[in-house]
Amino acid sequence: MGLVAQMKNRVLKKMRSLRRVIVAVVRFRNVGSLRLLRDRYLQLMLDCLTGSIYQDPPLKALGDGSFDPTLREYGWDWPSVAHSMIGRRRMGNLRLLVERALFDRIPGDFIETGVWRGGACIYMRAVLEAYGVRDRRVWVADSFAGLPPPDVAYPADAGDKFHTFPELAVPLETVKCNFEKYGLLDDQVIFLKGWFKDTLPAAATGPLAILRMDGDMYESTMDALTHLYDRVSPGGYVIIDDYRVVDGCRKAVDEFRARRGIADELVEIDGVGVYWQKTRHSG
Ligand SMILES: C[S@@+](CC[C@H](N)C(=O)[O-])C[C@H]1O[C@@H](n2cnc3c(N)ncnc32)[C@H](O)[C@@H]1O
Repeated sequence: MGLVAQMKNRVLKKMRSLRRVIVAVVRFRNVGSLRLLRDRYLQLMLDCLTGSIYQDPPLKALGDGSFDPTLREYGWDWPSVAHSMIGRRRMGNLRLLVERALFDRIPGDFIETGVWRGGACIYMRAVLEAYGVRDRRVWVADSFAGLPPPDVAYPADAGDKFHTFPELAVPLETVKCNFEKYGLLDDQVIFLKGWFKDTLPAAATGPLAILRMDGDMYESTMDALTHLYDRVSPGGYVIIDDYRVVDGCRKAVDEFRARRGIADELVEIDGVGVYWQKTRHSG
């Protein structure tokens, strides 16, 4: 090889190694800033959906009309306009579990049974958006007309008054509109309108990576577990929003777990909600 060719080769080699360094630097910087942007987006979404960012006061019927950050932290009040009432801790936990399901490649969609204004489902869709996930869906199950009156078949719900609260009846169109406000209403969001006992058995969900239950009553919790638990993938998560504060809900969960011999550890979220991770052998 002539001297010129040798020099040319050496220069090319140097250029290639320099390019590798540049690509590595650019990629590293992009990964860092992408992570930061994703985190800021999801944090902003959490602040908006829980009404913390604009200090949304609670509904007049249930509070003294002033915003209390502690109540909102634990989801102990019902916001006037914010899109979720589950509070910052349980919302943060939802993000964590959705991210774990994505990182650990737990197969399946995400569902919430009992969505109110849609906030928790909007957040699950936002996490999918933040990670560019296109092959999972968010199922949004609700009567969109409030809670059912207690059924005599379920003594644990006797005297339950939730069905008398008009504040809990949020029409489907309003919830769709709420998704739209964040630019998150698309074919990755599926609405199931009606009582759980009617909609869940035939819902074409396929496997579920997350089953989040927020129907408050014994009947609503038991219907969700009965029709959806077996669809939860091994390694998937079962979240119960009201386990520590609604007796009927807790009773349904305890009975279901005992009946199915589920021994997976109940993990505390914020003194109100709990979750468990379904092991391969449970239920
Ligand atoms: C406490 S709210 C849900 C709060 C919501 N997860 C959030 O992020 O703010 C309870 C919801 O469950 C719905 N619900 C309760 N039981 C139901 C049932 N058996 N069938 C259909 N919807 C039900 C109610 O309509 C209401 O929207």
